Amino acid sequence: MSKDYEKYFVKPSIRDARKRKSQETPVIDFSQHFNIKGFGKGKTYKIETYGCQANEADTEKIKGILEALDFTESETLEYADIILLNTCAVRENAENRVFGELGRLKQYKKNNPDLILGVCGCMPQEEKVVDRILKKIHYVDLVFGTHNIYKLPEYLETVVLSKERVIEVFSEEGSIVENMPRIRENTRKAWVNIMFGCDEFCTYCIVPYTRGKERSRNKNDIINEINSLIEEGYKEVTLLGQNVNSYGRDFKNEDYKFANLLRDLNKLPIERIRFTTSHPKDFDLETVKILSQGGNLMPYIHLPVQSGSNEVLKRMNRKYTKESYIELVDNIYKYIPKVSLTTDIIVGFPGETAEQFQETIDLVEYCKFEGAFTFIYSKRAGTPAEHYEDNTPFEDKKQNLYKLNEIVNKGYLVGNKRFEGKTVKVLVDGLSKNNDEVLAGYTENNKLVNFKGDKSLIGEIVKVEITEAKTWFLKGKQIG
Ligand code: 5AD
Ligand code: SF4
Repeated sequence: MSKDYEKYFVKPSIRDARKRKSQETPVIDFSQHFNIKGFGKGKTYKIETYGCQANEADTEKIKGILEALDFTESETLEYADIILLNTCAVRENAENRVFGELGRLKQYKKNNPDLILGVCGCMPQEEKVVDRILKKIHYVDLVFGTHNIYKLPEYLETVVLSKERVIEVFSEEGSIVENMPRIRENTRKAWVNIMFGCDEFCTYCIVPYTRGKERSRNKNDIINEINSLIEEGYKEVTLLGQNVNSYGRDFKNEDYKFANLLRDLNKLPIERIRFTTSHPKDFDLETVKILSQGGNLMPYIHLPVQSGSNEVLKRMNRKYTKESYIELVDNIYKYIPKVSLTTDIIVGFPGETAEQFQETIDLVEYCKFEGAFTFIYSKRAGTPAEHYEDNTPFEDKKQNLYKLNEIVNKGYLVGNKRFEGKTVKVLVDGLSKNNDEVLAGYTENNKLVNFKGDKSLIGEIVKVEITEAKTWFLKGKQIG
């Protein structure tokens, strides 16, 4: 099988990728691919997950498949029979961490030659990564991508029974796979994919190539999944998509968009609905108005802006302007005054000038973000920005990142301060990291709260009065 891998590769090409939009999305029923139950009896696995929520959701599906095959999760990496690295390709340092980890795991393979070591997720969707594994990392037994998780039982059978290395990556459009078993990380909060892939092609971003074309799940499949979660006692779902605001754009026979989905989910008896990630160009006023109805729709929006300069936004292919972003933010604050807004920002995009960076700072101050993920631009092979001229020294980019982070951190504190003296509802996740008499959980606005309370409250929604706001969390006391 390893020689065949080449036939699955389509080199990242914007022209070809754009054509894929018109193609039908096959829906695959997982139960058709599942026939080697019992195969993992007495054996264990361990998965290391890197990157975003999409990967966390995929790990839950991989665990579901492995446990359906009767594997159990190992406490430690050292004694696992299967180790899988579910990888992220969005920035170079994420990739370097994975290669570093593979170096470390070589020893495990020496100690236990029967160990199955696999790499999956976004990195294998890049041809250069698979080439490197094929040529240099001979002790990796299994490589698969984001589109073919459902074939894991088959791959394991091949690796174990025929002792063959399996490398299979589908790089084209991708399908939708329903009815995959799933072991969820949390018993009260769940990820629910509403769509897969991305067709935006921001010029810096690898995701449209690693996760395939944008494809929306059927609304009934989403609603049925959430209804089952409600029956199991879940209190919060986070709807996942690379651009949730374009949900339904690919439906051929139905006019059903993200706003329609939110309106339907607003009627379900679940306490909290969140979603990520939003794209400013597709976030319409109808969606803002539905969110303003509140109820189970949480007052928290992550709205990546990336840059505050129109020139940079254009070269990033973001398809909105600073002005239209500000108009959206103004509307969000007007209709949902209690909302918390956070964002993503890239510093040092090729050719970004000092003035353009200053425009980002000005925008951040105007928008009153209560948090932001900030990144230094990382060149990704195969993306258009790879070829953009970039003469700014890395040291200057780092200085700009520090400057931006100082402002962002003030925003965190201002955002937390506004809850001092107020009563908030906290969904309790568990014990705080540093003190096992203290509970930790998140408010409706997605603020982390620590308060003294009994362990039996884990998984419950508790009323807490906020006594003190710190930059990264709130302190409070339980009331009632
Ligand atoms: N370099 C730096 N940051 C990136 N992101 C995506 N691609 C890159 C890149 N090549 C950031 C964007 C995105 C977040 C998930 O990661 O800000 O919103
Ligand atoms: Fe990447 Fe842009 Fe798609 Fe987000 S919207 S995943 S940044 S291409």
